[in-house]
This record gives sequence, structure tokens and C-alpha cells, in this order.
Amino acid sequence: MSYPQKPAPTQLPILRSVVERWSPYAFSAKPVEQQKIDIAFEAARWAPSSFNEQPWRYLYATKEDGEDRLKMESLLLQGNKWAKEASILMISFAKRTFERNGKENVHALHDLGCATGFLALQLPSLGLVGHQMAGFLRDAANTILGVPADFIPGSMMAIGYPGDSTLLPPELQERETAERVRNPKRAFAFRGTWPK
Ligand SMILES: Cc1cc2nc3c(=O)[nH]c(=O)nc-3n(C[C@H](O)[C@H](O)[C@H](O)COP(=O)(O)O)c2cc1C
Repeated sequence: MSYPQKPAPTQLPILRSVVERWSPYAFSAKPVEQQKIDIAFEAARWAPSSFNEQPWRYLYATKEDGEDRLKMESLLLQGNKWAKEASILMISFAKRTFERNGKENVHALHDLGCATGFLALQLPSLGLVGHQMAGFLRDAANTILGVPADFIPGSMMAIGYPGDSTLLPPELQERETAERVRNPKRAFAFRGTWPK
């Protein structure tokens, strides 16, 4: 599988990993080496966070993880069942309260998103792809996975080696090959004053 697979058509030169990261639907069933999984988490580990709290947690299961994997798969909504093909299924959680004083950490989900972004950006260099999903049984995740209530689910993520997109059902093939689009910078980056 050649890289980059679907590079972002950027307007200015940016970091290579940002150009190369994307969210495919075709995943290979090939197992991901534990060393690569560890490297991806190492990238997440070095994300910044409010008070250096590091509120991120990740629970993942590979295809070799039996019951644990089946529990993870059972949380996928119908529209995301394609993700079962991926070697790794993972759910991110943010710790709602600070370790040191038990107070609410209002930046927990923010910091979780940042760490997950770091993780996602590490994947292309490992020859891996990732696809985040909101489409999972968020309310059931803690109970089914045995995660304490102090941890709020963020996103689910499929991670693995790229698969053969020609084997996807037509509607997913269409999404897989759709043009990558973004809002222009002027729609979200404002200098000086907020636009009227
Ligand atoms: C928090 C989050 C939730 C998402 N949920 C889904 C989902 O449930 N199903 C899906 O197919 N894609 C999902 N996506 C993928 C987005 O659709 C994708 O990131 C976006 O279209 C931009 O495409 P790109 O990641 O290839 O640049 C999600 C992405 C994020 C970050």
C-alpha cells in the first residue's frame, strides 16, 4: 500500500503527518505489532494538558482479544460496522476530575481530543491508518467495558493497516474516494475582532 494514500490538498506547506492522516473505511485484518501500538500511545503521552493532568485514557482490543474485542464491537452503531475489520478498536475516555483535589476538570475532553490528535498524527509514519467514530453506544460504553463513571467516553477509533477499498460496499467506496474538503481559514481564524 503506497503512501500518502489520500493527502490533504493543503493551501500552504504543513507538517507531513497532517497531510497524510486521513480517515479511511478500508482496513486490513493484518495485526498491528505491539511496538507500533506502543509508539502511537507514546505520541499521545506527550500531548499538553491543563495542569499536566493527562486526563486521557484509552481502552483497546485487537482481534486476538476474544470477549474483550466482542464487547468493543458490540458498541458500534450499524453505520460503523465496517470498523470490525480493523485490527484495533479503541475507545478514548477523559477523567472528569483532577487527581489531586477531586474537582471537576472542565478541560478534560479538550485535552483528550488533543492527545488523540497526537496519536492520530503518529499513525502515518507507522504505515497505519485510523478512523475516529462518534457512532457508538456512548451511554452503554462504561457499563459494557467496566469503566468507572468518573471517565467520560470521547470517541471510538479503528486503527490498522490500510485495506483494499475495492472490496468495500459501493456507498463506502464512494465516501472513501470523496474529495477531502475543509472550510477556508477565514471562516474560523479571526485576527483582532470577532466578525459581525
Ligand atoms: C470525534 C469524531 C467522530 C467521528 N465519527 C464518525 C463516525 O461515527 N463515522 C464515520 O464514518 N466517521 C466519523 N468521523 C470521521 C470524520 O467524518 C472525518 O474525520 C471527517 O470527515 C474528515 O475526514 P478526514 O479525517 O479523512 O480528514 C469522526 C471523526 C471524529 C474526529
